[in-house]
Amino acid sequence: MRKTTILDLARMKADGSRIVMITAYDALFARILDEAGVDVLLVGDSLGQVVLGHPDTLNVTMDDMVRHTGAAARGRKRAFLVADMPFLSYQAGQADAVRNAGRLLQAGAEGVKLEGGRNAAATIRAIANADIPVMGHVGLTPQSVHRMGGYRVQGKTELQRERLLDDAAAVQEAGAFAVVLEGMPAPLAEEITKSLSIPTIGIGAGPHCDGQVLVMQDLLGLIDEFRPKFVRRFGELRRPVAEAVEAYAAAVREGTFPGKEHSF
Ligand code: KIV
Repeated sequence: MRKTTILDLARMKADGSRIVMITAYDALFARILDEAGVDVLLVGDSLGQVVLGHPDTLNVTMDDMVRHTGAAARGRKRAFLVADMPFLSYQAGQADAVRNAGRLLQAGAEGVKLEGGRNAAATIRAIANADIPVMGHVGLTPQSVHRMGGYRVQGKTELQRERLLDDAAAVQEAGAFAVVLEGMPAPLAEEITKSLSIPTIGIGAGPHCDGQVLVMQDLLGLIDEFRPKFVRRFGELRRPVAEAVEAYAAAVREGTFPGKEHSF
């Protein structure tokens, strides 16, 4: 079993092999996803909503990301591991950004991801110049929720389309090895994908990107409160989890667990 590297991801774009990326936030699930053959694991700052119970990603800290990146890194063997740079870990200055990206590498990541297009290009260049692989993220960028006026599909007008094409080109020119395209019309994601030599990874961006990413709990059918249009639930695990816990609770209450066979 050979380790996946950024060279493999570049080759996959060249070969037309699609890249499979899923979020992971802990060692157990990183191991399960790794063994299932995922190419890239992302310790996303969606951690804030999915694991930490925040309403958005804005309260996720570097310490949160370092702890969960370390956990995911200890669980996976083969997949390439990317960690998100959280809000305010890269916006305030390039030296800060390089140091924080380095902390994520020291925790076990092999690359970092940050949100932004032309406005983030100098920061991407500074991090890439420190030999830290950077993945860009353009379109619907959740850390900009208030600037966007909510989680809205981007790039619907001609002006926005041109801006997103320019953002993606700027991210590539700055030295990113790949870019996430989130929340944009499928034809625009296709146009960006054809215009770039680095791989694009889509989420809510249609079928023509070089790869796809989903939040693990969404695709496993664990989240009922929020069902975005772009998610397919490849499992329905919420009910079986609840049923197992209900069976355990009933057994404890009835006195049928633990039995002799579980006792010392
Ligand atoms: O934080 C995250 O999980 C992400 C992906 C959904 C792209 O950035």
